Amino acid sequence: MAAYDFNDKIVSIPDYPQPGVIFKDITTLLRDAEGFQRAVDELSNHFINQGITKVVGAEARGFIIAAPVAYKLNAGLVPMRKPGKLPREVYSQEYGLEYGSDELQVHTDAITKDDRVLLVDDLIATGGTAVAQAKLLSKFGATLVGMAFLMELDYLNPRKVVREATDCDIFSLVHVS
Ligand code: PRP
Ligand code: MG
Repeated sequence: MAAYDFNDKIVSIPDYPQPGVIFKDITTLLRDAEGFQRAVDELSNHFINQGITKVVGAEARGFIIAAPVAYKLNAGLVPMRKPGKLPREVYSQEYGLEYGSDELQVHTDAITKDDRVLLVDDLIATGGTAVAQAKLLSKFGATLVGMAFLMELDYLNPRKVVREATDCDIFSLVHVS
């Protein structure tokens, strides 16, 4: 498949949702049939034949990408949700964001120690969300095979904090320096 300029389909919005933050609007990629399909295909293909059994997506934008990747990899889909959304027993993890802080929860029976897991999100910025997800995963004893992102903000150096939590394969379609 020829190289495709995913970055060209993602719009940068300065000072949103607060001054100093450059918001990456992926809706312009998602609405593009070819762009969306290529993004899902390239993220999935990077992790194909690695025995992925569960794909984990973080609410909310992570769901959009994680679901089709799980489908393509013939894996189960596990949502990590914002507090109070999951009805049964959960593990919880607080984390800091580029702006503010938040918390993710996952059902305690969503993953087993035998699972081979891929984390998928639209964006890795500070790495706080990804590290929180890795911490939640560690409670299950499962194997974290990799992390897949549409976009990685290299200038925030997220790999530095992620590497303190895991040495899994980190793959991003677009790098912003
Ligand atoms: C956004 C984005 C990633 C996260 C990345 O989620 O979708 O999940 O920030 O930032 P980080 O690497 O600094 O943690 P956010 O919770 O802001 O919004 P969402 O609910 O729309 O996904
Ligand atoms: Mg998110």
